[in-house]
Amino acid sequence: MAFPQQFLDELTARSDIVDVVSAYVHLTKKGNNYFGLCPFHNEKTGSFSVSPDKQIFYCFGCKKGGGVINFIMEEENLSFRDAVAFLAKRANLELPEEDGDREAGQKRQRLLDLNRAAAQFYYQNLQSPQGAAVAAYLNRRKISRRTATNFGLGASLDSWDSLLTAMLQKGFTKAELLAAGLVVQNQQGRLYDKFRNRLMFPVIDVRGDVVAFGGRVLDKSEPKYMNTSETMVYSKRRVLYGMNLAKKSKRGNIILCEGNIDVITLHQAGFDNAVASMGTALTVEQIRLLSRYTKELVLCYDNDEAGKNATQKAIDLLNNSEFSVKVLQLPRRLENGQYVKQDVDDFIKFHGREAFEALLTGSENHIEFRMDAVAAKYDLTDDRQRVAYAEEISGVIASLANAVEREVYAGRAAERAGISKEAMELEVKRAFRQRASRERRQLERTSLNPAAQLQPKERGCRYTDLRSAMAEEGVIRLLTRDSTLFDCCCQLRPEEFSSPLLGKIYSILLRCHQSGQQGGVSLLSQELEREEMNHFTGLLQKPESMANSRQAMADYIAIIQDSCRARSGAQESDPLVAAQEKYKAKKGYGGKPHE
Ligand code: CTP
Ligand code: MN
Repeated sequence: MAFPQQFLDELTARSDIVDVVSAYVHLTKKGNNYFGLCPFHNEKTGSFSVSPDKQIFYCFGCKKGGGVINFIMEEENLSFRDAVAFLAKRANLELPEEDGDREAGQKRQRLLDLNRAAAQFYYQNLQSPQGAAVAAYLNRRKISRRTATNFGLGASLDSWDSLLTAMLQKGFTKAELLAAGLVVQNQQGRLYDKFRNRLMFPVIDVRGDVVAFGGRVLDKSEPKYMNTSETMVYSKRRVLYGMNLAKKSKRGNIILCEGNIDVITLHQAGFDNAVASMGTALTVEQIRLLSRYTKELVLCYDNDEAGKNATQKAIDLLNNSEFSVKVLQLPRRLENGQYVKQDVDDFIKFHGREAFEALLTGSENHIEFRMDAVAAKYDLTDDRQRVAYAEEISGVIASLANAVEREVYAGRAAERAGISKEAMELEVKRAFRQRASRERRQLERTSLNPAAQLQPKERGCRYTDLRSAMAEEGVIRLLTRDSTLFDCCCQLRPEEFSSPLLGKIYSILLRCHQSGQQGGVSLLSQELEREEMNHFTGLLQKPESMANSRQAMADYIAIIQDSCRARSGAQESDPLVAAQEKYKAKKGYGGKPHE
């Protein structure tokens, strides 16, 4: 599975991390390092750093870090092997032949080929008499031929095995059909088509690969939608329906809506910047994907409880991000004297594209949405409720970082509740101060507790012997800064480390050094888990004086070995452990038996 170290050295030498990262992040030089906005979490001030000397990146905000290969893995959502292939292509390097990994790559490609063939099959069905029911359904939903083709819509047939048969005939195997989630197996082990008698929506990612399918029933039966479950080529957290088309839109923003049909109707009406998260809450991965294409999002979820909750959740997730976020609220429609809820699709059909365009330009920013939501909770003609309203709304307004904004919205809230502007502003100021002191306390709590701060963020890497672990970190920092210090380490064995992770890092660095190789980072990228890599790059960020490095190294080693002896001593003097050892010895387990 592993790549030869020499190849990784060559690859990383030809893939300068600053060059590679610059294609994704706008970097500015500060001192020896570069800084920019972290592509892996939402932020307004750059805490993402790249070190050309160490060839690593590290985000002080979300604490992700690694070498150039880790960066591509994270950014392009690739496995280690695919990230290496990606960089090799960029650097014009031939990949060494690698059986196991090549197989995985080929298997992925087979699934993508299969999905494409299935999409073609469904598409052909729709053009044929067998797809008449689906074609009629599209007519009923006012989806034109042209739009259907643009989205590659298709029809699964009212049959148990038409796709199965067609794909077997094309040379795909049953195992591949199962792995792609296109067929399922019943208890007797028989295979049958997962999607039957449904309008089929191929889900196409931004690279143009068909990664999954959604299928809608043609009547009122349940479940209304079926989607491909997670497969080797599909992770629903990372895909947005319609993004393959929306990424080419000339409109300045992207509209996020709830459903597949909403997206299709919007595109048909000329809003080719619409996407949907296919029935799940918006994820961080989807936000990252969106950030490659736009800086402005318009949330356009259904105007019901579920839609409002989804909007609120999305706003929370986007809070503090670089996106400007607007909320487009669809009005209810009067029907037979009653107000009924409508989604985007209904709205366009009843009111037309100009009306939607007007909503879009008039859409409020998210603070107005939140203020409306608070106001709706209170009866503002009641004095007591007005007081409660003022208290809650001031909390919302206090969350705005900009003082002018706080004043403007305080004014609006005051007007709404019939309170004086001055009183409302006082209330907002109070809430703002409260908020600031809460944040300060929070900060103090973490920074006044050094033991908690020194602990790794990932639970799996927790230190059990903090004193020794700090020295172990020191050894690793010194070795990565000055490789001549390896001379001082002849006596220090990885087993003596208290932290298994730090011991592992140390032994990899040692191995690299002994074989005369340069690229510790690329070898670590290959052998460490993602969280472990984050932790490694994190500890490299801590200060370490190089002034008296040999002495420091000797001190660290003394601490590590001393702690190691103390730990094994504790074990020996523990009566329970001693008894166990004696028992094992008697039974002849492990170790040497007495006498
Ligand atoms: N969805 C799903 N499974 C369901 C229901 C919905 O995966 N059982 C997803 C689909 O991607 C759907 C989206 O959630 O497009 C929104 O659901 P809904 O509003 O119910 O469907 P619409 O897209 O509005 O479809 P239609 O207009 O045809 O009812
Ligand atoms: Mn709908």
